[in-house]
Amino acid sequence: MTKIAPSILSANFANLGSEIQEVEQAGADYIHVDVMDGHFVPNITIGPLVTEAIRPVTELPLDVHLMINDPDRYIPAFAQAGANIITVHQEVSKHLHRTIQLIKDNGVKAGVVINPATPAEFLLPILSDVDMVLVMTVNPGFGGQSFIHGMLEKIKLLAQWRNEKNLSFEIEVDGGVNSSTAKLCTDAGADVLVAGSAIFNKQDRKLAIKEIRDAIKG
Ligand code: DX5
Ligand code: ZN
Repeated sequence: MTKIAPSILSANFANLGSEIQEVEQAGADYIHVDVMDGHFVPNITIGPLVTEAIRPVTELPLDVHLMINDPDRYIPAFAQAGANIITVHQEVSKHLHRTIQLIKDNGVKAGVVINPATPAEFLLPILSDVDMVLVMTVNPGFGGQSFIHGMLEKIKLLAQWRNEKNLSFEIEVDGGVNSSTAKLCTDAGADVLVAGSAIFNKQDRKLAIKEIRDAIKG
């Protein structure tokens, strides 16, 4: 079944604990944690301290999306803070294979992310080493942006390669996912849908998650 990963970027940071518990009760599968450093992306969000603080409030896996320039430097801290999955951007990893190994050596599932302008082909040499591939469907940095439809081709390619190579990494999609775009992603082969504003900007989070689940059923 398709997994839903609410992005806490759009949550009320003053009530992060209860916001997370609310989406857990509403049927979320992962908690997506957006880490931004003001260098790789224009925005600054949270780091290992906040990740550690939210760890005890949920049973759900913490899916930590690192949008930072020097991921190797911080991977051990996020692992210690309780991350279950860490994804790093292909664009900043000088030695991507080494970075993926570093994540695994820290006992965490490893994923790789590509920006909209990065071809899926760049991931071919690393596909057999990762647990997750994250396809950005907006330019990273902010919640509430519009889905870039051209990215669906990348999702299809990744699903095709996974099949051909008999691999089992999850395909996650991040940016502009809502009840109108979710089915396009799952039809293309996505397994995990990140949704920030489509869930946290609604009063009723249970209904918001249900709307996405209903949209991908039909
Ligand atoms: C963007 C982040 C996303 C963001 C998605 O840089 O990586 O996870 O929170 O927000 P929505 O779902 O509102 O596009
Ligand atoms: Zn994200």
